[in-house]
Amino acid sequence: MRVSVFGAGYVGLVTGAVLADLGHHVTLIEVSEEKIALINQRRSPIFEEGLESLLARSIDQGRLSITNDAESVVGSSEVIFIAVGTPPLPDGEADLRYVRQAALAIGRGMHGHPRQVIVNKATVPIGSANLVEVWVQDGYREVHGRAPSSEWYTVASNPEFLREGTAIFDTLYPDRIVLGADEAWAIDRLQELYRPILEQSFEPPPESPRPNGVTSVPVVVTDRISSEMIKYAANAFLATKISFANEIANISERVGADIVQVMRGIGLDQRIGGRFLNAGIGWGGSCFGKDMAALTVTAEEYGYQPRLLHATQDVNREQRLLVIKRLQEALKPVKGRRIAVWGVAFKPGTDDLRDAPSLTIIEELLRLGARVRVYDPIALDNLRRLRPDLEVEFADSAEDALDGADALILATEWPSFAEIPLATIADRLTRGIVIDGRNFWDPEAARQAGLQYRGIGR
Ligand SMILES: NC(=O)c1ccc[n+]([C@@H]2O[C@H](COP(=O)([O-])OP(=O)(O)OC[C@H]3O[C@@H](n4cnc5c(N)ncnc54)[C@H](O)[C@@H]3O)[C@@H](O)[C@H]2O)c1
Repeated sequence: MRVSVFGAGYVGLVTGAVLADLGHHVTLIEVSEEKIALINQRRSPIFEEGLESLLARSIDQGRLSITNDAESVVGSSEVIFIAVGTPPLPDGEADLRYVRQAALAIGRGMHGHPRQVIVNKATVPIGSANLVEVWVQDGYREVHGRAPSSEWYTVASNPEFLREGTAIFDTLYPDRIVLGADEAWAIDRLQELYRPILEQSFEPPPESPRPNGVTSVPVVVTDRISSEMIKYAANAFLATKISFANEIANISERVGADIVQVMRGIGLDQRIGGRFLNAGIGWGGSCFGKDMAALTVTAEEYGYQPRLLHATQDVNREQRLLVIKRLQEALKPVKGRRIAVWGVAFKPGTDDLRDAPSLTIIEELLRLGARVRVYDPIALDNLRRLRPDLEVEFADSAEDALDGADALILATEWPSFAEIPLATIADRLTRGIVIDGRNFWDPEAARQAGLQYRGIGR
């Protein structure tokens, strides 16, 4: 099938590369010349395990290409994905300007053959499929002075659930695929596009072997509004699960319970499930914060006060600063102290810094007058580039960050940090204070190594 994908970011690039690897002919449409140049050199502009080899293979086999000239390619695509960013505006509403630009370009390039399914893959506020329809018409009208025939296209919703760090795996072996459309032919087209995934009939690529037991993928076929809501509801539920764990952690700490044991104890209950129950400095990343904010705005627009959504966000806001309180208790004062921070990416396995809890912590440390030395295995270049305002020192290695520091804050639990012996951390820190924002280490082992250790909720 001929497919175009607007936006070669975390979602669009992975979706495009995977669909091309499955045999479709995919054109990525991107506005960033820097990204286009990198991808044409078979290099990935983002850090995502396995993506570069997947890209190279699809480009070399002639199934994947990239352009900035949307109008000349969209007209011949049977499926057009919109996977551009939908960042938050200051009031929490999603900024749809990039979606609008893409939809206008689709309208300008449309000529009626083939019949097209335009798919919102970006996370867009409820009702956005209608907006995309209007913008596509506007684009066509700009060129032709009249509206396009409604027979030529339809707008569908196909929200994305991939996780950065395991994006290829999640695209090939998703828990489900959600398709929202008002027209049966659009659903048929999308089922056809995804058939190799739905039926698990493809030869797994070397980058991502098929896990045992995956023989098919469930598909949820629904209307557009429900489909758009499914994405927000999923993220709100996951964020709430983490905030719930943090709420219980804060109570556990006061009564002397160990949150890690408590969450294991509840997570084994199949009605609850053990994932997303890790207490720590809370959730972040490109999606949860902005999607919670957008859903809250939507609820309020319709006269509903979403109390649970507000509580989830409040708990998270306070949780990020808990490590600073811990540090203040241990250091008294923080001013003039040297603090090492391990991990800046919002989670391990990615270089993404969007809404990373580490950034809130670093900002607060600097505000309090601390000297901050940071290390992250992947995300330091992004930190240099995106946050030149943060006056931090960049360490060459995790160990290097510790030298001369009074305390260590662990903000992102990169697995490689486990390779550094606790005794080394104790030796290198002048005061041996460790504030473990992810309950990464065993408290007893840390204390035995001579560290003054504090976790969250234990
Ligand atoms: N990142 C994730 O883990 C994830 C997961 C699920 C859903 N989503 C949703 O997917 C959407 C995209 O997220 P992302 O993380 O991939 O964003 P991103 O910022 O990594 O990528 C967006 C890309 O779109 C490009 N772009 C902007 N305007 C364009 C235009 N008019 N034409 C062509 N390209 C254009 C940008 O240059 C950028 O490369 C968002 O709505 C997000 O909420 C993201």
